Amino acid sequence: MTHAAITGWGKCLPPAVLTNQDLSTILDTDDEWVVSRTGIRERRISHVGLEELAYVASMRALAAAGVEGSSIDLIVFGTCSHDDQVPNMASGIQARIGAQPAAALDINTACTSFLYGLSIANALIRTGVVRRALVIGAELISPFMDWTDRDVAVLFGDGAAAVVLEATDKEEGVLAEKLGCFGESRDILCVQGMGGRYANHGVLYGVTRWQFEGQEIFKKAVAGMSGACQDTLARLNLKPDDIDLVVPHQANLRIIEAVARKTHVPMERVFVNIHRYGNMSAATVAIALCEAIEEGRVGAGSLLMLPGFGGGLSYSAHVVRWGNRTTALRTSDIELPPNERCALELIQDCLRRKTQASERGTAKQPFAGL
Ligand code: UT7
Repeated sequence: MTHAAITGWGKCLPPAVLTNQDLSTILDTDDEWVVSRTGIRERRISHVGLEELAYVASMRALAAAGVEGSSIDLIVFGTCSHDDQVPNMASGIQARIGAQPAAALDINTACTSFLYGLSIANALIRTGVVRRALVIGAELISPFMDWTDRDVAVLFGDGAAAVVLEATDKEEGVLAEKLGCFGESRDILCVQGMGGRYANHGVLYGVTRWQFEGQEIFKKAVAGMSGACQDTLARLNLKPDDIDLVVPHQANLRIIEAVARKTHVPMERVFVNIHRYGNMSAATVAIALCEAIEEGRVGAGSLLMLPGFGGGLSYSAHVVRWGNRTTALRTSDIELPPNERCALELIQDCLRRKTQASERGTAKQPFAGL
């Protein structure tokens, strides 16, 4: 039976670091609150567009797999913060890595987009439609952030990562997954301003209002992820002890700890990098997976569990069998263009746009009646 092994991985973090201390200069917040409630110490703010982040990550993933872009049959781009809706993001990556005429599709299930994308690529490889796929999780949240809202501004960051999947006869890659969604609760995590319904009512690009019921999302995240983990373990007839490493979505350290408790996996076998980057939505698990490999936490034949949660409210859990190789075959020399500006300067642009909109009166009640 054909499986889809993960043979390459690469990440791209923009260099500008925004600390909790930086945020406390523009918001009524402080490092102690953010660290104790979320585990986040800093996050990255991008000086380039989403495609650029994703391109650099993709080239690193291709190099790690030792393959050329021209050998890719399918590109799945997971994101909710597109540079453009039309043409899609995946076609831009296809053109830049030289993968013509590979299939190229975007997928948006918010923070779980990379994981849902993994399922799509896995299914298309296992059914013989394609043989080699590039799955991307990338997010540029900063232009869409409401930098005046401390409830959400402290939580998110920018980043990108990608993996290469290849057909194999060995029992590797995704062994089983559970995908689900609490659609009835979708309004508790809603970014107003990102979409045609707002543009057509005069809301300026980048001016957003986040509808975000933190505590309710928290409960759903724990229930969704831990339930999906249990479901996936049961499908494979595995016990929590069989899992070598859990690489979960990183939205809040307390959520990760609660999921680990409910799944009966000790925190020593859970990978955490939320302190460095916050929640990068679709990029989060993809970047965490890259760093778990870099830090030697993934061994030959390791059994991984990847629980995810996001807007929708979507949730998922994948059990992945790693192959023999945990080192990159090659490295890529593609880098981001240099950045001259600090993270606070980068987000000043976003704040300026919002102020200009307020002065024109367009942002005063921009969402009234929508
Ligand atoms: O990828 C999935 C998307 N997101 C999530 O999974 C997030 C899920 N939710 C959470 O992570 C947590 O609910 C939050 C981190 C968002 C909030 O933590 P919390 O422990 O639920 O805090 P809270 O919302 O109950 O707020 C407690 C207090 C409030 O003040 P009062 O009403 O007690 O006086 C807030 O106004 O903390 C206040 N607060 C802040 N204080 C300082 C809220 N945000 C901040 C802030 N700095 N940034």
